[in-house]
Amino acid sequence: MTKTVSGFSKFTKLEKIQWIANTFFTDKEEAINVLKKYWNSDQDLQQLHDEFTENTISNFYMPYGVAPNFIINGQEFTVPMTVEESSVVAAASLVAKFWSSRGGFNTEVISTTKIGQVHFMFDGDFDDLKSYFMDVRPALFKATEDITKNMRKRGGGILDMELRNKSDKLRNYYQIHVTFETKDSMGANFINSCLEAIASRFKKEGIEIVMSILSNYIPECLVRAEVSCTIDELGQNGKEFAQKFYQAVQIANVEPHRAVTHNKGIMNGIDAVVLATGNDFRAVEAGAHAYAAKDGTYKSLTNCSIDNEIFKFWIEIPLALGTVGGLTALHPMAKFSLELLQKPSASELMQIVAVAGLAQNFAALRALVTTGIQEGHMKMHLQNILNQLGASENEKEQLIAHFNKRPVTHSAVNEEFERLKSQK
Ligand code: MEV
Repeated sequence: MTKTVSGFSKFTKLEKIQWIANTFFTDKEEAINVLKKYWNSDQDLQQLHDEFTENTISNFYMPYGVAPNFIINGQEFTVPMTVEESSVVAAASLVAKFWSSRGGFNTEVISTTKIGQVHFMFDGDFDDLKSYFMDVRPALFKATEDITKNMRKRGGGILDMELRNKSDKLRNYYQIHVTFETKDSMGANFINSCLEAIASRFKKEGIEIVMSILSNYIPECLVRAEVSCTIDELGQNGKEFAQKFYQAVQIANVEPHRAVTHNKGIMNGIDAVVLATGNDFRAVEAGAHAYAAKDGTYKSLTNCSIDNEIFKFWIEIPLALGTVGGLTALHPMAKFSLELLQKPSASELMQIVAVAGLAQNFAALRALVTTGIQEGHMKMHLQNILNQLGASENEKEQLIAHFNKRPVTHSAVNEEFERLKSQK
């Protein structure tokens, strides 16, 4: 039987589900039941979600957790996190608490400039192209006036436009490199609309527009978050801990294999807040990793220093975020998150998200250079294993108590579960 289909998007939701169940599942009824179980009983809410994308047949839940006790520039926050990995929210909460009694997190937005480019081909003299660009430049700004009107009222808009010669990298390749300030919106649609208007005014015979699109590499939309304290304040073995921690960051700076995992841990925190606030985590991921490789090798996004008995740990990361527009206004949970965060501007959200990344990295490195990562990780994962085994509430309680001071492994939990059942 063929597993391809035409006109699928025109099917009703039920027809889509039916086709999927009939084509790919042995237990069709069970497949349909799973999908339906995740429908929302509130029809309006379900319709809202159906309309976010094409061919929606159900919803995919992710846990929505909160990490309280973050102090950022002296202000208290409870940070919403959407993430499936068991230990992430717990780690964020622990680290928030730890730093709350050591001065909290200090943050600063370094810049908020976004970038878009019109990529085009030109087979002619660069000086001619340059003078055409300079002649037409005012008209390019004019061509975007309707689009930028509201943004300009909010203090944003197009900052600059320049012609860039890239023909040494690719024959005949040039671009109009445009910089934007998009205030509280992430700005993707705004930027792309401006670029298309610019491209359409710019094109003429001899200029072949290839594409007009924002760049998710935004090294000038940058935020910094930092924690610091005396070595003594780090605890009993403060000096030894600080040294090892410092070495762990240096290793991530010189060894890309480690840096990728190190930065993945940072993104555990970053993505969780980005998702919870209805922002585009793919854009943030792409931009962050490109920034990590900006010096030609892939490095840590965080840094550490120990000077005069002061331990300092910081992150510098590009983040394109919005607190208006897009899903932020549409998704009720994104709206909830933003209210929980006391209605931040995009710049304030950049600072909160950077803190979540730094906190997550601190938690991971602290565990790695002391107990190892698995102890805490598996403790948090225990609940998942117990659910997988089908343990009852009572059995869960007994098993959690049993593993309180013992190492958690899948087989150890299984064995203990079987032992418990056989006692009955
Ligand atoms: C796991 O999701 C993240 C860590 O691997 C990060 C790290 O190794 O730094 C624990």
